[in-house]
Amino acid sequence: MKFMALIEFFIALILCTTSTISATVDCDFPAIFSFGASNADTGGLAAAFQAPPLPYGETFFNRSTGRYSDGRIILDFIAQNFGLPYLSAYLNSLGSNFTNGANFATFGSTIRIPTSIIPQGRLSPFSFRIQYIQFRDFIPKTKFTRDQVGGIFATLVPKEDYFSKALYTFDIGQNDLTAGFFSNATIQQVNSTIPDIINSFIDNIKNIYNLGAVSFWIHNTGPIGCLPLILANFPSSIKDSYGCATQYNEVSQYFNLKLKEALTQLRNDLPLAAITYVDIYSPKYSLFQNPEKYGFELPLVACCGYGGEYNYNIRVGCGETININGTQSVVSSCKNPSTRVIWDGIHYTEAANKFVFDQISTGCFTDPPISLNMACKRKFT
Ligand SMILES: *[C@@H]1O[C@H](CO)[C@@H](O)[C@H](O)[C@H]1NC(C)=O
Ligand SMILES: *[C@@H]1O[C@H](CO)[C@@H](O)[C@H](O)[C@H]1NC(C)=O
Ligand SMILES: *[C@@H]1O[C@H](CO)[C@@H](O)[C@H](O)[C@H]1NC(C)=O
Ligand SMILES: *[C@@H]1O[C@H](CO)[C@@H](O)[C@H](O)[C@H]1NC(C)=O
Ligand SMILES: *[C@@H]1O[C@H](CO)[C@@H](O)[C@H](O)[C@H]1NC(C)=O
Repeated sequence: MKFMALIEFFIALILCTTSTISATVDCDFPAIFSFGASNADTGGLAAAFQAPPLPYGETFFNRSTGRYSDGRIILDFIAQNFGLPYLSAYLNSLGSNFTNGANFATFGSTIRIPTSIIPQGRLSPFSFRIQYIQFRDFIPKTKFTRDQVGGIFATLVPKEDYFSKALYTFDIGQNDLTAGFFSNATIQQVNSTIPDIINSFIDNIKNIYNLGAVSFWIHNTGPIGCLPLILANFPSSIKDSYGCATQYNEVSQYFNLKLKEALTQLRNDLPLAAITYVDIYSPKYSLFQNPEKYGFELPLVACCGYGGEYNYNIRVGCGETININGTQSVVSSCKNPSTRVIWDGIHYTEAANKFVFDQISTGCFTDPPISLNMACKRKFT
């Protein structure tokens, strides 16, 4: 599997240099609608429950925005690429502006119905189906706001034609897998749930398509076995030559294989849609394989955390206050987050997110191999 992944990586590189599709007309997306989990959250869970404390946000915003990073996430770089403002979280009632889109993603979201939700559990109640329902309700509410409410409120919602012209982005699935690993399921049992997770994902993509979405930008899932979350909690797992937990990464790879296959089928089922599968696994994994080459160090060690080889303890979060032998101290960030890959043991730093964005926006890691600026194109021959 690792060998196959390597082959696919090189095939992607070859495709990239020889046949990346470029054209003169770029897609002019006026809005972005985002669905997903913490890797795409711009303040959703923070609005519903509570914001992660500083140093979350310290690098770019100098305040906690509800993003799970020291700064910007991949979605922010996507918005910036199109000259759009950063997306407001749909759930955020204060100061939000939805003119150029809305973000339904929340920390802890799953594709399937969550088994144990916040505050008792660790998963978000806003699973993918709930995010779809929120979006379904959002459309007529924006029309009502434009037609009936008016005033300043009408300037805060998308224009009617933006829903078909927008880019729809997706980054979800990692929590379905980690929730499995943290239950008593074996790795093989978690692996065997993947076809069902993918079916559920596709059902909701179809639902969103039926509401008028055309352009889909769908991230696969990252190398879970390289996260301190897994490495610190499953210390006896088999490691690859970069120190990542092999079998956990194989589960990510199987998820990605099934997702890619399902999207190939979906292009036949939804011929009017432009569906792009985006391989974030490979650029993320390359940060663990070759950190120095890209200006990074200590890729397996959390920048903001506490304890052990990976500077991570699931009970002591980044920004929380801990008591060490009677002395209170705050779990703070490392000296130089800009040279680090992992922020808090689960999520990536702004620097790593920027690196991944730079890779995926080129067309080198997408199927079909088209750049982000061309993601509205169905035919590219
Ligand atoms: C960051 O925010 C703090 C207050 O939280 C403020 O004292 C500081 O001046 C700010 N730094 C910058 C660069 O804006
Ligand atoms: C909302 O954002 C749009 C687009 O950036 C801008 O034109 C509009 O003035 C904003 N509305 C408010 C009330 O700031
Ligand atoms: C896992 O199994 C152990 C021992 O059988 C049990 O104590 C624990 O509650 C189980 N955990 C879950 C999440 O089912
Ligand atoms: C996951 O399941 C697939 C299909 O049965 C299998 O090929 C793969 O080896 C499994 N991976 C793991 C880590 O169990
Ligand atoms: C806390 O105190 C114990 C017992 O005196 C000691 O062994 C340990 O190293 C101390 N831990 C830290 C982090 O100082």
